[in-house]
Amino acid sequence: MKVTVIGLGYLGATHAVAMAELGHEVIGIEPDSQKLSSLAQGILPFHEPGLDAALPRAISSGRLKFQSEHNEASASADLHFICVGTPQTKGSDAADTSYVVAAAKELAAWIKPTAVVAGKSTVPVGTAANLKDVMDDIAGFDVHLAWNPEFLREGTALEDSLRPDRIVVGTWSQHSVDVLREVYGPIIATGTPFLELDVPTAELVKVSANAFLATKISFINAMAEVAEVSGADAVSLAKAIGYDDRIGSKFLRTGIGFGGGCLPKDIRGFVARAEELGVGSAVEFLKDVDAVNLRRRDKVVELANQELGDLAGKSITMLGISFKPDSDDLRDSPALEIAQRLTALGATVTVHDPVSLNSLATRSPELSREENLIEAARGAELTILGTEWKLYREVDPQELAAVVKAKTIIDGRNVLDVAKWQAADWRVIALGRNVHNG
Ligand code: UDX
Repeated sequence: MKVTVIGLGYLGATHAVAMAELGHEVIGIEPDSQKLSSLAQGILPFHEPGLDAALPRAISSGRLKFQSEHNEASASADLHFICVGTPQTKGSDAADTSYVVAAAKELAAWIKPTAVVAGKSTVPVGTAANLKDVMDDIAGFDVHLAWNPEFLREGTALEDSLRPDRIVVGTWSQHSVDVLREVYGPIIATGTPFLELDVPTAELVKVSANAFLATKISFINAMAEVAEVSGADAVSLAKAIGYDDRIGSKFLRTGIGFGGGCLPKDIRGFVARAEELGVGSAVEFLKDVDAVNLRRRDKVVELANQELGDLAGKSITMLGISFKPDSDDLRDSPALEIAQRLTALGATVTVHDPVSLNSLATRSPELSREENLIEAARGAELTILGTEWKLYREVDPQELAAVVKAKTIIDGRNVLDVAKWQAADWRVIALGRNVHNG
């Protein structure tokens, strides 16, 4: 099939490559000239394992092309995917849908009557209905608009796109269902469930899935708060409750909490939308989910204060700065916010991260960056593990012990082998755990 993918951020770039891998002819449309030229050269403008190799492969197959705006070539496509961002609105909790609206309007001026538009962006429920009115007006016919949320995770984005747990489509026409069934044919053929829903339900599936995941993480982090004052251990607790398969063990990792470009802004946007619809109280609990999550960041700052007293002039090393491993995404990263707050309190924070130091230089240049792990730790009076990159789990604590000024580490992700670190004479402070340091 001939498809376009509009907006080439994490979601769009991954989706465009995935569509090319499935054998479709894809035109990626991205107005940002820097992003576009990087992608056109086969260079991913962000870190995403697997996608970096698949992008040049898709380009050299001739099935993936890029352009900055619509033209006759893109207008002849059978299916258009809208993948632009819906960030949190500045000064409000609501999702900013202006990029989606702009993309829909531009497309409506070019689209052919038989083409289907599939929105993949995460939007507040009700957005698609408004978009359809706007598009119908501009196009002068009944546009086949559908909503087709995407559930990919950063770090495993391509794999998640090609082998999703389910495909969700919300449609107003059988033609949209048929076209979407065709484009995802190879994935459906492997037994992946294809759910045909109404449009508001499809819009809600995405935000409610993210709200559930965020709630699960905050639940265990709330238990960590209780564990911290009662001598219990939240990691063992998570393991024990996770054996109940009604609860499940996934997404119960306690630590400094969730961040990234999705979960935090999606729960806030969900609350804002529910309030607009007059049912704010139904999802009021998500405010607590957000608050529990943010309190974990406060906790680390508090622990740093307890350990070091006045933070002015103190050297702190932050191991990992991205919001999760295998990603260089710093959006709403818990580790980044902690590093910034410690810096604001007068500490000198040196950051190590295997892939995110370039993005850090742009986003938070006040933090010092060090590419060599041992050098990053040299002279540290406190070390904090902020992102659970594999290399931190595997590092030899003896080696780090030899260069730091004080052998104290806060394990913000509960991934270190505490006994091994203690054997190397480290004081280990683990969130939600009752660790006895000799
Ligand atoms: C999320 C959803 O998982 C995905 O389905 C959706 O499409 C986009 O949003 P992503 O933002 O890539 O994906 O990250 P995810 O793996 O969900 O992790 C989010 C955050 O939660 C990370 O900061 C992670 O460190 C944290 N987390 C995750 C925990 O703190 N504990 C856990 O048990 C799991």
